[in-house]
Amino acid sequence: MKQTELLKVDPQEPEIEKISQAANLIKAGRLVAFPTETVYGLGADALNPKAILELFSAKNRPLDNPPIVHVENFEEVPRLTQEVPSAAKKLMDKFWPGPLTLVFKRSSIVPEVTVAGLETIAIRMPQHKVALALIRESRCPIAAPSANMAGRPSPTSAEHVLEDLNGRIDAIIDAGPTRIGVESTVLDVSVAPPLLLRPGGVSFEALKEVVKEVQLHPFVVSEKEISPEKAKSPGMKHKHYAPKTPLILVEGDLSKVMGTIKELTTDYWLNNKKVGVLATSETAWAYEAEVVKTLGSRRNVDAMATRLFRLLREFDSENVDVIIAEGVPLDGLGLAVMNRLRKASGYNIIKAV
Ligand code: TXA
Ligand code: MG
Repeated sequence: MKQTELLKVDPQEPEIEKISQAANLIKAGRLVAFPTETVYGLGADALNPKAILELFSAKNRPLDNPPIVHVENFEEVPRLTQEVPSAAKKLMDKFWPGPLTLVFKRSSIVPEVTVAGLETIAIRMPQHKVALALIRESRCPIAAPSANMAGRPSPTSAEHVLEDLNGRIDAIIDAGPTRIGVESTVLDVSVAPPLLLRPGGVSFEALKEVVKEVQLHPFVVSEKEISPEKAKSPGMKHKHYAPKTPLILVEGDLSKVMGTIKELTTDYWLNNKKVGVLATSETAWAYEAEVVKTLGSRRNVDAMATRLFRLLREFDSENVDVIIAEGVPLDGLGLAVMNRLRKASGYNIIKAV
């Protein structure tokens, strides 16, 4: 067991001594969790293979699923990549710093382990003062997957990071809860047209306004598990975002969804099972389950995204036998929320009719 140091900082004006302390750990090949605008990341020096191996092991992450490399200035990109296509330049101008990760052909300075042996590298410039200050002070690109144990919901607060990784990492920089709540959008710009591999903080609609050719990978809207051969992004084939309690997702017309959830709740109740429902503020009143949590209004998908992972984690301490979740609208960040819910359910999806 390591001693995990907790460094509390001001999210707007991070104290430089604490950032330097964390940066010294990164430079020494150690592991530091830090906030971004999306979720907390677990950082290590992207160019230090030994540190990267420790990063995988701390999270129990499969070695074939590479982390995202975080940079704090545009000049780093040509150093880490072979080429920056014109579509990528436009997207970086518009969305960086921000919740957009771009997949490029990688350069030879990037260690094999950092990219899990792939010819490509995923890069993003986060929009959080603490993250940017940490990268700047560390003087290296920082590889950072989400700071959760592999398969668990991503952490949106330092408490979530501690829950999963206390004693397994060297430090956590705590700057309070994250703003967006779902991870960055992953877009492959090493192919033409660019291909959206993971929906996230930048919506598909917003990307298309800048590069209209952007395509959705079929997996992003998939309601089924994908075969490993078709997994374009390594993250597509691994179990993800799951609370410890089994989750069932009910999709379809809202009134039918509500009817189906009520029926299921009664069935479970008759079988002496405790049910938790993940509802929305418009519908929560209708359910008579053991625990009902609300993601917020169906008209505000951004706010739903912010709360999603926290509520999934909270259900684990509620002692319910099953969680039943309502599907949400697919526009804007709704696409990311539904993608996470489908994965969290292990594709245990009921179509309400
Ligand atoms: O918002 C975020 O993106 C957060 C914060 C910390 O920045 N990070 C994050 O990292 O979500 P992670 O490792 O949990 O997810 C990275 C995703 C995975 O699905 C991985 O398969 C994909 O990016 N990825 C990484 N490198 C790739 C590559 N070369 N080609 C395709 N997909 C890649
Ligand atoms: Mg992750």
